This record gives sequence, C-alpha cells and structure tokens, in this order.
Amino acid sequence: MQKHLEKSTLKPKSGSGSAKRAAPSAAGAKPSSEKRAQSFTRGVHHLALCTDDIKKTTEFYTRVLGMPLIHALKVPPGLGTGKGNRGNPPYEEIRHYFFDMGNDSTLAFFEIPPGKEPATNRNAIGSMQHCSFVVTPKRFRDIEERLKANNISYIGPIPQMPGLDGIYFMDPNGIRLEFACQAADGDDPHVIECCTQTKASALRELRTLPGIDEAWLNEMTANLPD
Ligand SMILES: [Fe+2]
Repeated sequence: MQKHLEKSTLKPKSGSGSAKRAAPSAAGAKPSSEKRAQSFTRGVHHLALCTDDIKKTTEFYTRVLGMPLIHALKVPPGLGTGKGNRGNPPYEEIRHYFFDMGNDSTLAFFEIPPGKEPATNRNAIGSMQHCSFVVTPKRFRDIEERLKANNISYIGPIPQMPGLDGIYFMDPNGIRLEFACQAADGDDPHVIECCTQTKASALRELRTLPGIDEAWLNEMTANLPD
C-alpha cells in the first residue's frame, strides 16, 4: 500500500533469515531463527508521543528523518474530556498524526495544547529515555548528512556493543532519538540476532539481582543459546 523507505531491509519469513547473514554481530550468540522462541507480539504497531507543535514535528519526521506521514486526524469529540476517554490526552479534538517508521510500524503524535503540560523528563520512572530506529549502513551515513544539513547537533557514531553503532540527537520536542546500525548485516539487519547474549553471559548479570534462585534463572534464560 505505502512505499516503505526501508523496504529493502524487510526480513524474510521466519526460518530463512540467518543463512543470508554475512557475519553475526554483537554478543556472538548467533541464535538461529529456527531455534529461537517466538515473541508473543510481532512488534510495535504505534509508539505514541506528545508534541505541542504538530506542524514542526511533521516537518521534522518527514523531511529530516524520512518517515512519511500516513494518517492525520483529530481525535473524535467526547474522547478527550468526556466519558469516552480511555487514557488518551484529556483535551478535546486534538490532532493525532501517524508516520511510517519502517517495517510496518508507525510513530504517532498527539498535539497537546501549548502550555498545558510540562516538558518531558526522559529519566523519570516510566518515561521513554530514548527511541532507537534501525537503519542500514547507507541510511546511517545519510542521517548524518541530513542532520548536518538541518543544523541538528548529534552525538556519534558511538559503538554500543560489538557490531552495533548509534547516532543520538533530539527531535523538536526534546525527545531523544537514536539511529542504530549493524554494519556487518548490510542491507538485512537482524536486531534480535545481533543483541542476543549467550546464556552464560546473561547469567553473569542476572545473578546480581536480589531474591533470585536457580529455578528463576533457568526460566529467564531458557531461550538463550549456550
Ligand atoms: Fe539506545
């Protein structure tokens, strides 16, 4: 339906991915997609954030980050302050826009009336510290050029773990963003394979938790490779 900017990075169906990889990266666990347990969820449908300037936000995500606008609406009457509110922002008929963040996931913004809510503290408990988007090596180079062209300061590229680099910057709302690249994966990044630890490596950390026992450790590491 839509044109996906990252279409070339879409994963093959389960079971056909790992054979194509040029080099496994990061933690070195190399879990095959056949062996891995499947997550209960498929991935992110929409990540919903808040802005007080939807026009500026729309320009940033479409023009600078290359995420096409796919849906623009106002929240229907009665859902803000009326009985129909289900946890959405308590303002009537505010704007709610959606952007294609790639791989069939969307990024959404509510437009909060200016001055009605405080600025975010990304380190507050329960808040979003940052959001990291996967990109291919080419897009990883491109984003630096886009940020420079738009006079947006950034940090990086910074190695995050073996085989994974990140570039950090802020959106116009002060939301911290990251572009993450697994260079060895080329145009076909596999995030779970890159980030999965061996069981022994995870256990070294998990054993530092209070109140755990061997049964708990076995349960939590059951999906990790040796
Ligand atoms: Fe990160």
